[in-house]
Amino acid sequence: MTVRILVLNGPNLNLLGTRQPEIYGADTLEEIQRRLEQHFAGRDVELRFHQSNHEGEIIEQIHQARTWANGIVLNPGAYSHYSVAIRDAISSVNLPVVEVHLSNIHAREAFRHNLVITPVCVGSVVGFGWRSYLWGIEALLAHLSR
Ligand code: DQA
Repeated sequence: MTVRILVLNGPNLNLLGTRQPEIYGADTLEEIQRRLEQHFAGRDVELRFHQSNHEGEIIEQIHQARTWANGIVLNPGAYSHYSVAIRDAISSVNLPVVEVHLSNIHAREAFRHNLVITPVCVGSVVGFGWRSYLWGIEALLAHLSR
């Protein structure tokens, strides 16, 4: 059976490639998505990608995922640090979510250590650049097949 995964990206991640490449790397979001598609091409996995700079749209995507997805890999961007609304959306749908971050947020500014969404996720992968997504998807697949 095909496993369907929503890879959901929050604010400013559309600017990857030019946005602080010393922190986030030189790859664009499209390049990362293509690489993930190539990586999982031989597996029975369908990846659907969505990016939004708007909290409400991220919430709508999480709600809609109920109708088609088996789980979500989420990089909430800065919302990670304060969006109770996204946290509540995850708590309101019966879908496993793996949180991912390109950078090691724990080694950065103190305000990035505050993670309000993490406790309602099944786990998180942080600090490995685009591979945080790769291993986030692998972790979600392992969680789904447990
Ligand atoms: C980020 C980390 C966040 O603190 C930041 O606001 C981002 C990107 C990451 O992937 O490392 O937008 O989520």
